[in-house]
Amino acid sequence: MGKRKGKAAQLADDATGTSELNKHIREMDVEDGPVSGHASVGASEASAPTPPSANGHAPGEKVEKTSADYYFDSYSHFGIHEEMLKDTVRTKTYQNAIYQNEFLFKDKIVLDVGCGTGILSLFCAKAGAKHVYGVECSDIADSAKQIIKANGYEDVITVLKGKVEELTLPVDHVDIIVSEWMGYFLLYESMLDTVLFARDKWLVPDGIILPDKASLFLTAIEDGDYKDEKINFWDNVYGFDFSSIKTAAMLEPLVDVVDPDQVVTNSCLLKKMDIMTIAKEECDFTVPFKLVATRDDYIHALVAYFDVSFTKCHKPISFSTGPKARATHWKQSVMYLEDRITICEGECLKGTLSVARNKLNPRDLDIVLEYSFEGKKGQAKRVQHYKMR
Ligand SMILES: C[S@@+](CC[C@H](N)C(=O)[O-])C[C@H]1O[C@@H](n2cnc3c(N)ncnc32)[C@H](O)[C@@H]1O
Repeated sequence: MGKRKGKAAQLADDATGTSELNKHIREMDVEDGPVSGHASVGASEASAPTPPSANGHAPGEKVEKTSADYYFDSYSHFGIHEEMLKDTVRTKTYQNAIYQNEFLFKDKIVLDVGCGTGILSLFCAKAGAKHVYGVECSDIADSAKQIIKANGYEDVITVLKGKVEELTLPVDHVDIIVSEWMGYFLLYESMLDTVLFARDKWLVPDGIILPDKASLFLTAIEDGDYKDEKINFWDNVYGFDFSSIKTAAMLEPLVDVVDPDQVVTNSCLLKKMDIMTIAKEECDFTVPFKLVATRDDYIHALVAYFDVSFTKCHKPISFSTGPKARATHWKQSVMYLEDRITICEGECLKGTLSVARNKLNPRDLDIVLEYSFEGKKGQAKRVQHYKMR
């Protein structure tokens, strides 16, 4: 039986000193209030009075926050940025893509969509960009301004605090868009929509986007011990039936690092996205998959992960968030199956996977998995629903 490695163990190699902020955005939810509350900015802040300077409300007036407020609040604290910056697979790949391709940046106007602390803007400025506009909606924009000044780049980088969709840029067009928009399951958070908005509004016809390709993959794992620990645990909690929580736990893909030894099939490419051309509507999709067992084993869960590529570089640069690659803060997304599938080498698990933004809260993902299996030692056919929130 495979054993799940914890994130701390995985990232210890990086000497990152990981924070427990292991999910980008977990606390924002539907318009009528906080529901999940997993991360640093929690439900306790939901009813906190907002300073009048921020929104014009009277002092002490209780202000209801929207899902957008929760989303941006979660990025206001430096902790989540620390985790992203210390994800060296992520940050070093962007740095290499920019520093090793100065020819792309020389005399170019760059837009950094969701600049956070300003790290990608700084990379672009150092690589020779003529001017960089870093747009950031959360309060971390104030820190970005200080960081850019402290490093002497205030003449080259302008940080604009606001929502990309709402602000006016000081220029009509940009030559390059750089952004780190990827969420769990690639599309959770729907920040890609913001990049596509910026692309359609400001990018010159021969402009480029970094990164410009993203691919979503599916594989299958043996995970009996961990399924017992995380799912079947709820069947009997100190002698009581807690199985209503088991139902909820089954619905949420588990974001965790999967040991590569647990992988029992090939990986199947579900969706390849060209960020230069993809339309927002194409980010909701239903695709077939076929997973072929590489050994005799059991399948307890399917696992989604993604790769991104910077193909406009002199030599294409990419990174993977798959179980066989070095762990990133995105880890992998594990979807437990109701069935335990007894699969023999060469046999196939087939089906379709649908991924769509939730209608009420488009930053959540609704996932539908349909699968069927006809093997020598067992059969299965089922539809399962998951929600990334
Ligand atoms: C994943 S973080 C990346 C931060 C930084 N670029 C980095 O690489 O470290 C994405 C950032 O985009 C910001 N963001 C997301 N949607 C935005 C929008 N519509 N307008 C402005 N900022 C946005 C978030 O607040 C967050 O700080």
